Amino acid sequence: MVTSMGGKHLITLQEWTNEEIDTCLDTAYDLKLKFARKIPHASLRDETVFIMFFDESTRTRNSTEAGATQLGAHAHFLDASKMQIQHGDSAKDTAMILSSYGHAIACRHCGWGVGNAYIREMAKYSRVPVLNLQCDLYHPMQGLADLMTIQEHFGRTKTQGLKVSIIWCYATTHKKPISVPVTQALLFPRYGMEVTLAYPEGYELPDWVIAQAEENARKNGGTIRITHNIREAFEGADVVIPKNWGSWYADSKKAPTDEKRAGNTTLTQEELERLAKNKSWKCTQELMDLTSENSIYMHALPADRVNEVEDSVIDGPHSIIYQEAENRLHTVKAVMDPTMGGRR
Ligand code: CP
Repeated sequence: MVTSMGGKHLITLQEWTNEEIDTCLDTAYDLKLKFARKIPHASLRDETVFIMFFDESTRTRNSTEAGATQLGAHAHFLDASKMQIQHGDSAKDTAMILSSYGHAIACRHCGWGVGNAYIREMAKYSRVPVLNLQCDLYHPMQGLADLMTIQEHFGRTKTQGLKVSIIWCYATTHKKPISVPVTQALLFPRYGMEVTLAYPEGYELPDWVIAQAEENARKNGGTIRITHNIREAFEGADVVIPKNWGSWYADSKKAPTDEKRAGNTTLTQEELERLAKNKSWKCTQELMDLTSENSIYMHALPADRVNEVEDSVIDGPHSIIYQEAENRLHTVKAVMDPTMGGRR
């Protein structure tokens, strides 16, 4: 257990040790029980966390806002489109000023090529922890909740050798960042899982992600492999995470435009046509039947229920999506508690 996480930023779990992640999960289990039993746990009384959003959110905004309240703190919601960022305030100005008013700055900025850089720039100048609520590259809060959910289902010490498949699926609802599969591909091998990454050609993750995931696997007894065969990804899997990703990254390999970099999430006709070639990449009941008996279906949500997954799966007996979404509350509290209130 690590007792000196006060003031620590969370931009990617790659920059947290396994011991720090485990401390966070210890805290999450404790806070989940306290929440269920209505035991007060206001460890951050009178503190303030600014939660800045450049993009839409249901789970992340509300779990962070509710979580702050339950810890005795107050979360100020900031819609970036209504801030003076629009008239020239830089990431430095924003971080210097907000950090002089409160105890943490949490931010979502998924703009391809700019989100992570913006959050890192704030962290450079902030006097308080900067917490990443999802950027173009990472979604650490989702990764923690996913790991907790897998541990709850299979046993906290039984993730070694679990077969986990992260599977690209067809969807047309909006342009999605690669941050969820990147976070999962990096994190799960650190817990000894045997990760399969499955996608149609053209939707690969960056080479540096695969290299880091392989290194994480090598150090921790996990594995990572890639397939372009969707059936192979479902066969014998203990955990399946079928989800769309990647138009931004796929585009950036061609010609990034200012419009795309600014975070426009509307799919163009060209993107829809490229996607349509891979319409068969859908999580169906027939594919779920290939998984192991005790398998779980996970999704960070929102899901494209028409295209990504059949209702019989997402609403079926293997689906654990609501537990996964609930764990966003307990894990974000378990990040705020030691970083905002902990000892340095
Ligand atoms: N999974 C997730 O981050 O959900 P929101 O976009 O609703 O926050």
